[in-house]
Amino acid sequence: MELVFATNNAHKLFEVKEKLRLSNSNVRIISLSEIGFYDALPETGTTLQENALQKAQTLYERISRNCFADDSGLEIEALNGEPGVNSAHYAGEHRSHEDNIHLVLSKMEGISNRRACFKTVIALILDRKIHYFEGRVDGEITTEKHGIDGFGYDPIFRPVGFSQTFAELGLEEKNKIGHRGRAVEKLVSFLSN
Ligand code: IMP
Repeated sequence: MELVFATNNAHKLFEVKEKLRLSNSNVRIISLSEIGFYDALPETGTTLQENALQKAQTLYERISRNCFADDSGLEIEALNGEPGVNSAHYAGEHRSHEDNIHLVLSKMEGISNRRACFKTVIALILDRKIHYFEGRVDGEITTEKHGIDGFGYDPIFRPVGFSQTFAELGLEEKNKIGHRGRAVEKLVSFLSN
């Protein structure tokens, strides 16, 4: 089965392709560049679910092919759930991972409750029907950056039960326990049933 993944994020594309490869899934991911789709996908909703659906629906209306999108965010307890749905542009519309990390670390200075979680919502449009899959991983925000793998807030997020951040653990481990990996597992299990 072929599914177009509505993302312009090369890291996400690679993560999801790897997850499916290791799950021996028969789902083949088609990227936007493979179908020559280079337009921006709007994400103006107020929740992860709204944004995931908006991206998937925008694509579906243009290409009429089975497709899915994910929307993810980091929620920090001591910051009342921020950056949440604003994770991509927390430090401004220029969407810099470096600036976003810097802003989180400065807001968290002196705060001892460092609990946080990553959440992903996948919206799948299959034969015109919409399905949602969610994934979550709990952890904490470190006091400085560690590691170079991954993207976004990976260098400052340490999942529960580990002494390393996502950026130190590497993709395979992140995919086993991470928010997107868990949501993709649910997607795969839905498609194989
Ligand atoms: P998006 O809207 O789903 O593309 O994700 C919003 C933002 O959340 C991204 O730009 C990243 O800053 C952050 N983010 C999403 N997923 C991850 C992840 O797996 N690791 C680190 N940061 C992430």
